[in-house]
Amino acid sequence: MSAPFRLEALTEAHDRAAFACGEEPLDRYFQTQVSQDIRRNITNCFVAIEAASGLIAAYYTLAAASIPTPDLPPELTKKLPRYPAIPAVRIGRLAVDQRFQGRGLGAALLADAALRTLAAGPAVYALVVEAKNEAAAAFYRHHGFLPSASHPRTLFLPLATAAKALLPPRPAWTRTGRGQADIFVFG
Ligand SMILES: CC(C)(COP(=O)(O)OP(=O)(O)OC[C@H]1O[C@@H](n2cnc3c(N)ncnc32)[C@H](O)[C@@H]1OP(=O)(O)O)[C@@H](O)C(=O)NCCC(=O)NCCS
Repeated sequence: MSAPFRLEALTEAHDRAAFACGEEPLDRYFQTQVSQDIRRNITNCFVAIEAASGLIAAYYTLAAASIPTPDLPPELTKKLPRYPAIPAVRIGRLAVDQRFQGRGLGAALLADAALRTLAAGPAVYALVVEAKNEAAAAFYRHHGFLPSASHPRTLFLPLATAAKALLPPRPAWTRTGRGQADIFVFG
């Protein structure tokens, strides 16, 4: 049986007009602004497509970010070097169309964001999100995100935590790619 949804990068070929998640600013951004941000390399955007209908069921955006180290929860900072900032990837917006909520898509988008980030070349310490309201913050906490001590609507998920949940156990170097680039054949 084929999967009911597929996840792919947003393109101009996708029809965004009917998307409605119940939060008007998230719909408006997706319908009117995200393409321009993608063109300018301000963000990437990935969508979940229902295979049977071709409808966009959900979307999220992903962009490089930097976290001021003091914003991290103390349980994380005590294990980190005293650099002023730590590399991160921001899930800027994440929304599931109302017709598709409660079917695991929100969780699937978070897993997809973590896997894409883990597969990227640069080191990333954590995913970061700015929850728009308490319900959104609760959604992220439910998935293991930790709130900042000073800004509780800013939440973090260390990539090491995501890797433990999403990747099969392997030696650390195979996950990061370090040590694998010994042999290249050109031409
Ligand atoms: C919040 C939202 C993304 C959740 O997506 P969804 O596809 O409906 O959620 P899922 O079906 O993937 O839920 C996965 C898990 O999260 C839990 N969950 C969902 N919403 C939750 C919430 N607000 N608080 C706590 N837990 C929540 C579910 O109970 C489920 O738990 P389980 O795996 O233990 O059974 C979606 O409802 C939405 O787009 N809302 C409007 C936009 C919005 O608020 N976006 C938030 C980012 S700013």
